[in-house]
Amino acid sequence: MRGKFITLEGMDGAGKSTHIPHILDHFRARGLEVVSTREPGGTSLGERLREILLHEAMHPETEALLMFAARREHISEVIEPALARGAYVVSDRFADASYAYQCGGRGVDFEKMRLLEQWALDDLQPDITLLFDVPVNVSLQRLAKARSPDKFEQEGADFFTRIRDAYLRRAQQYPHRFRIINSDQPLEDVIRSLDRIISSI
Ligand SMILES: Nc1ncnc2c1ncn2[C@@H]1O[C@H](COP(=O)(O)OP(=O)(O)O)[C@@H](O)[C@H]1O
Ligand SMILES: [Mg+2]
Repeated sequence: MRGKFITLEGMDGAGKSTHIPHILDHFRARGLEVVSTREPGGTSLGERLREILLHEAMHPETEALLMFAARREHISEVIEPALARGAYVVSDRFADASYAYQCGGRGVDFEKMRLLEQWALDDLQPDITLLFDVPVNVSLQRLAKARSPDKFEQEGADFFTRIRDAYLRRAQQYPHRFRIINSDQPLEDVIRSLDRIISSI
């Protein structure tokens, strides 16, 4: 039986990385094979592209193309084989992030992105997308405390506001697969919301 493809989305600082171990444990406890991966990255080529994407300035469309180049590799090397053997694939970001960051954040044309998505993804879509949502000021405060910022994380509040809005619009557009998690709560409460959702996947 084919596995399930679960993606985690949300702004930097929303709490995706924090909750991944818990999500993996939950599925493993059910005896499932779980593959944990991330974007940009997920393959050796993808991780090299990640280094470039997170640290070098470039034209927004170059950024979109490189994201999809890494994603194309990720799908054929990691995601599809795992789904085909019945694994649950948990990916820290996927194509929705390109709509949020490259379209919303950087202003890449939406129609171009849609063509790129059709071209690179064929028909692959996540079964469930967990959108960790926090107000922009909260994510910026968390990031300031947590780590030294990469290229994206150095952007200001306007950039992140556009990203949050773009994510929320996609959640409205694809309600069958998006689950919004209010991450502006104490961790125990976020985990409680998360458990309700993942126990039904
Ligand atoms: N609900 C929460 N309340 C307080 N701090 C949080 C919460 N969720 C995450 N954090 C903190 O915010 C920072 C960023 O979280 P992280 O999981 O790295 O976000 P992301 O992977 O989405 O960028 C970390 O220092 C983390 O401990
Ligand atoms: Mg993270």
